Amino acid sequence: MSATHRLTVALGDRAYDILIGPRLIADAGAILKERLAPTRVVTVVDETVAGLHLAALQAGLDAAGVGHRTVTLPPGEATKDLAHYGRLTDAILDFGIDRRTTLLALGGGVIGDLTGFAAATLLRGLDFVQIPTTLLAQVDSSVGGKTAIDTRQGKNLIGAFHQPRLVLADTACLATLPVREWRAGYAELVKIALIKDPGFFDHLERIGPTLMQDRDALSDAIRIACRMKAETVAADEKETGERALLNLGHTFGHALEVELGYGGELLHGEAVSIGIVLAFELSVALGLCPAEDAARARRHLASMGLPVDIPRSNCGWTAERLLAHMRKDKKVTDGRITFILTRGIGKAFIATEIAPAAVSDLLERRLAA
Ligand SMILES: NC(=O)c1ccc[n+]([C@@H]2O[C@H](COP(=O)([O-])OP(=O)(O)OC[C@H]3O[C@@H](n4cnc5c(N)ncnc54)[C@H](O)[C@@H]3O)[C@@H](O)[C@H]2O)c1
Ligand SMILES: [Zn+2]
Repeated sequence: MSATHRLTVALGDRAYDILIGPRLIADAGAILKERLAPTRVVTVVDETVAGLHLAALQAGLDAAGVGHRTVTLPPGEATKDLAHYGRLTDAILDFGIDRRTTLLALGGGVIGDLTGFAAATLLRGLDFVQIPTTLLAQVDSSVGGKTAIDTRQGKNLIGAFHQPRLVLADTACLATLPVREWRAGYAELVKIALIKDPGFFDHLERIGPTLMQDRDALSDAIRIACRMKAETVAADEKETGERALLNLGHTFGHALEVELGYGGELLHGEAVSIGIVLAFELSVALGLCPAEDAARARRHLASMGLPVDIPRSNCGWTAERLLAHMRKDKKVTDGRITFILTRGIGKAFIATEIAPAAVSDLLERRLAA
């Protein structure tokens, strides 16, 4: 059996560990008791994950003598909204909590972001622990303390920075993940490689096709991604600088997600995949990036079964509308949209002076293609 690996997010007195290993859901009760000694915990989970992994978590909490309650919510991006935030905080307050109550987010990025935001705001701040169950959440969203909910105006527009006390990434639980969700998470893994680790991208090109079946290689890849994320967050917790690189593909991706209304037609990771390709293509169009590097990124994402073109299903797409969404993104300053562009594989950078005409030209070409 593979060992458990430990990384630390170095944030002074708010530093926390990321544990990566094969049976951390079952062991969570004992780990929590030893490390955090909460008075009691409230587990937040969606219906799908509850059916698959909640019993193991609860058995471990019982065995460790940790008192617990559970709130179960519907699965999917639509749950990350104000209405479900209201339902969740209401249910938690009804349990009768105190400042040492700890929330456990058992699920993907939706449950992680929503639970983290509830933890940030309930009693002005409760401890919470991320137990990510999707590849996306294990390589990206569970680490770094960005918590949020979506509104109809855009993604993650209401939120807070609130770091978890611990991240428990149970690699064995990924075995139950549907392949489409696995691929969506893989897009964020590719993103991390494309930002600043060309060697990791070479590696993913080689092992991508067999990664889903290869537990050890997958666990290594999760570790590489978490290490990069942990270092980035420790250097720039509130995203005043280099943390913004992690938004590669997200300005375009979020616009696609908002346009489609979070209904599951395009998963977050799928939107990011298309967004990464558009960011590379914009970089090529601006003469910043070799065309071959953009082609390589597109080829690899497509070969892994990810979408790389704006979907045709929605007939309302126009460059104008997508640009309007981008202008509402959080990363807009004085009307200028911040893009993460690239000089090639592993050479992403923050670009704040991009002319909107260059973006709409590219979108128009892509929408016509
Ligand atoms: N906070 C951050 O830094 C950050 C970073 C990246 C993404 N995000 C957010 O993360 C969200 C996307 O996360 P996601 O892709 O994990 O989506 P998700 O939470 O909706 O999970 C995807 C689906 O997989 C199911 N599922 C989860 N674990 C499973 C398992 N082990 N077996 C079977 N099914 C399982 C869920 O029920 C759900 O239907 C987006 O809202 C995005 O904005 C946040
Ligand atoms: Zn993302």
